[in-house]
Amino acid sequence: METLNVRPNDEIAPSGLRRTLPSSAYLDPAVFATERERIFFREWFCVGRAEALPAAGDFVRVEVVGERVLVVRTGERVLVVRTKDGELRGHYDVCRHRGSRLAIDADPRAALEAVPSGRFRGSIVCPYHAWTYALTGELRAAPFLDERDGLRRAELSLHRVGVRTWGGFVFVNLTPDRAVPLAEQLGDAPARVRSYPLEDLRTARRISYEVAANWKVVVENYNECYHCGPVHPELCEVVPAFKRKGGKDLDWDAGVPHQEGATTFTFTGTTERAPFPGLSEEERIRHKGELVYPNLMISLSPDHVAAFRLWPLDAGHTRIDCDFLFDPREMARPSFDPGDAVGFWDLVNRQDWRICEAVQDGWARARSTSATTRRWRTSRSTSDDTSRSVSATRGITPRARARARRWPRPRPDPGRLRAPPGGPPAPRTRLRRRRASRRRSRRPPRPPRSPRDA
Ligand code: FES
Ligand SMILES: [Fe+2]
Repeated sequence: METLNVRPNDEIAPSGLRRTLPSSAYLDPAVFATERERIFFREWFCVGRAEALPAAGDFVRVEVVGERVLVVRTGERVLVVRTKDGELRGHYDVCRHRGSRLAIDADPRAALEAVPSGRFRGSIVCPYHAWTYALTGELRAAPFLDERDGLRRAELSLHRVGVRTWGGFVFVNLTPDRAVPLAEQLGDAPARVRSYPLEDLRTARRISYEVAANWKVVVENYNECYHCGPVHPELCEVVPAFKRKGGKDLDWDAGVPHQEGATTFTFTGTTERAPFPGLSEEERIRHKGELVYPNLMISLSPDHVAAFRLWPLDAGHTRIDCDFLFDPREMARPSFDPGDAVGFWDLVNRQDWRICEAVQDGWARARSTSATTRRWRTSRSTSDDTSRSVSATRGITPRARARARRWPRPRPDPGRLRAPPGGPPAPRTRLRRRRASRRRSRRPPRPPRSPRDA
């Protein structure tokens, strides 16, 4: 297997700039393929909310690492099934007979759904030859075949996918036999947000975005506030601390303070919704955020949570599902309207995705012009390695900057060919000097007028 030749932490100052990963980490399909194998197929990967599977037989069909993975025919498509005892199980969506998909779209209109889902009636029946599996994955029946035909049911269960939940989020692991416990991967994140009733929250709205940027560009952008001042003026109105000193002094463990009188992420900084029960006094007026590696980002206001699930599609593209979670008691109120939070976040999100795409484009162009392959980011300023960091890419090298200044090259204006002061001579000036030089060389040498001219 190809190895990733990256050195993420060659720090040059204790609390200053660090080199980013090399550009290949953001552009190279081979690196993305390696990430797919080593990260997305081996780590716990968030695929949705358990609330989407309320009853026995419910399933969601997800594509881990996007459509292109399916072409490989390695069975990355996963079924997450809630079995009769309420447990969640995962199976590769591949029949053990001839390899047909088990959950196919009966109705072409279903293809419009971002996350296809449905309900199995007591068992999973393959649409091809009707091999029938229990919801837990064991093969129950294969029409017209038995042991005398060589059918070994015990060896023909659906291939297993690991499934665990935390905070109402469903995680799958495509290599369950080698998976670390989910709790180990989550680290201290659950402890930092333990006051928030994540498991009880429900999704009121989802917005899906297609972003032309590598998934790490999105994660790194989420993990810094250095960009908030230039990119998010509306957000900085609500949270002035985001732009103060480039976000250097933010304490995410304690929560980020809003401006005076504001408590949440809306255009006004206020809302009719009550804060979640169980929050501390500080949490009722502050904002928290967590990156749950590798593909879940959660931003926690006192009254709602914005949960971002990243679906890396290829080296340069990422789909992002943003779920807006609320207290179901608030959602049950006739006056409930999530629009104040959703509208605000949608603006902030689009600002983020736009700048992420600009970064990706910058990476791509730098490679095509043989310019620098490394950029800079600032080091983490928070105390905890798994919490947000303040990082930034900083410009490009002098050589690349010079290239950028020359590009696009201006067409010369024939009427304005005078050279700028101190700069190289303009083309016509150079031509006149060459002609004068040639004329001088054709003249016969003058006799010396004084001994010093000899
Ligand atoms: S492919 Fe599934 S039953 Fe034949
Ligand atoms: Fe941002």
